[in-house]
Amino acid sequence: MEIFRTKTVEQSILDTEAPEHRLRKRLSAVDLTVFGIGVIIGTGIFVLTGKVAKETAGPAVALSFIAAGIVCGLAALCYAEFASTIPVAGSAYTFSFATLGEFPAWVIGWDLMLEMALAGAVVAVGWSGYFGSLMSTLGIELPAAIAGEEPVVNVPAMVIVAILTGILVAGIKLSSRVNLVIVVIKVSVIMLVIVAGLFFIKAENYQPFIPPARSTPEVEGLGAPMIQVLFGITPVAYGVIGIFSAAAIVFFAFIGFDIVATAAEETIEPQRDLPRGIIGSLVICTVLYVAVSLVVVGMQHYTQLSTKAPLADAFTSVGQPWAATLISIGAIAGLTTVVMILMLGQTRVLFAMCRDGLLPRQLAVVNPRFGTPARVTLLVGFVTMVLAGFISLGALAELVNIGTLFAFVVVSAGVIVLRHTRPDLPRAFRTPMVPVLPILSVLACLYLMLNLPVETWLRFVVWMIIGAVLYFVYGYRHSRASRTPL
Ligand code: ALA
Repeated sequence: MEIFRTKTVEQSILDTEAPEHRLRKRLSAVDLTVFGIGVIIGTGIFVLTGKVAKETAGPAVALSFIAAGIVCGLAALCYAEFASTIPVAGSAYTFSFATLGEFPAWVIGWDLMLEMALAGAVVAVGWSGYFGSLMSTLGIELPAAIAGEEPVVNVPAMVIVAILTGILVAGIKLSSRVNLVIVVIKVSVIMLVIVAGLFFIKAENYQPFIPPARSTPEVEGLGAPMIQVLFGITPVAYGVIGIFSAAAIVFFAFIGFDIVATAAEETIEPQRDLPRGIIGSLVICTVLYVAVSLVVVGMQHYTQLSTKAPLADAFTSVGQPWAATLISIGAIAGLTTVVMILMLGQTRVLFAMCRDGLLPRQLAVVNPRFGTPARVTLLVGFVTMVLAGFISLGALAELVNIGTLFAFVVVSAGVIVLRHTRPDLPRAFRTPMVPVLPILSVLACLYLMLNLPVETWLRFVVWMIIGAVLYFVYGYRHSRASRTPL
């Protein structure tokens, strides 16, 4: 079937050499790791930790971070093999084109838009919230219509997206320098939380470390998790099950390590450095997350934690408001790079899809002055800005998780497929224990997906149907794979 035509790995690599579509190779393993940290550490640790400890896992939230980290680690090992074998922009989209075929690749590309453009807008709105509260501590009140809880138009979120778009157009190296500075600030703040927080830990706050399980009232209708609808498993708060339910939520904190793979084409030595960047950033962030969560639940009893700004509030609660202000600044800085790199990843996937003709090819032209895909960058910037400025996104955040998990499932399965279809390819990095590890990765991701609400599944299905229609109306007929034998 034509829709399952694949694009050979050789052709994918050849396409990156066409002069008008060639991205500049500037990134090293360290740049990639810093990129990873820049996009991973964000809303998840700065906001979700408190909510999850309080409502779902208790002090054992640290174990939830470990569980989510392991799920991501399995997927990361699969991403690393692909990225080292097919170092082409587009990440999971490109990997699927090489293994499963054009239509599945389109589905994944379309799906990645949920992860990146939507997450970019969601985090930009979160950024705006922190920015507003920092301004008010400085005595400047922004008008509610442009920066309140329910603004008519969220101006700070739009402005930050516009500035970041400009940086992304100006060049990958500049983007990575800006990122480096901000990552240093962000990681320093996280270290401050860990080190300063140690002095305020009270052992009794860890009692009980795993609070006794308590069944929560069954959620009715569309808000119920899929697992409840399918298998009648009622959600449980706390206890050992609670640790795993919480893992499905804190999964958001890890999103981003996969985006390192989208910068494949701009990496000087992708075969060696991509696996290092992907796995390195994930390991560093997991260690920091576990440490931060242990400290925070040690400083304040989990029942008292704030659900909006848990890190800052834990310090206020022990009489250290200065630290709270510093943490807010760190959070603002931190969220800035999350938005920037999510948008960067989105532009590279879109770029690859346009270059393949599945979307208008003119968009995939690289700007000769900056060496970046300026047209798609401006397009992504514009869409993210509109989403962040005008649409209430709170309810859509879970769509980001389902979209990302779906991509992980496909990439993990793809490793097994490519081992069978192209055993000959040089693989600088090989996923260990194939097929056991990729299968475990698929199952673990599916389990987390089942913990998401039915309405999230419905929205996901609707988004995918829109994508399928678009493919048959446009991509199928314009695909370059239909013209040149690949
Ligand atoms: N991992 C990113 C965050 O926590 C998306 O904000």
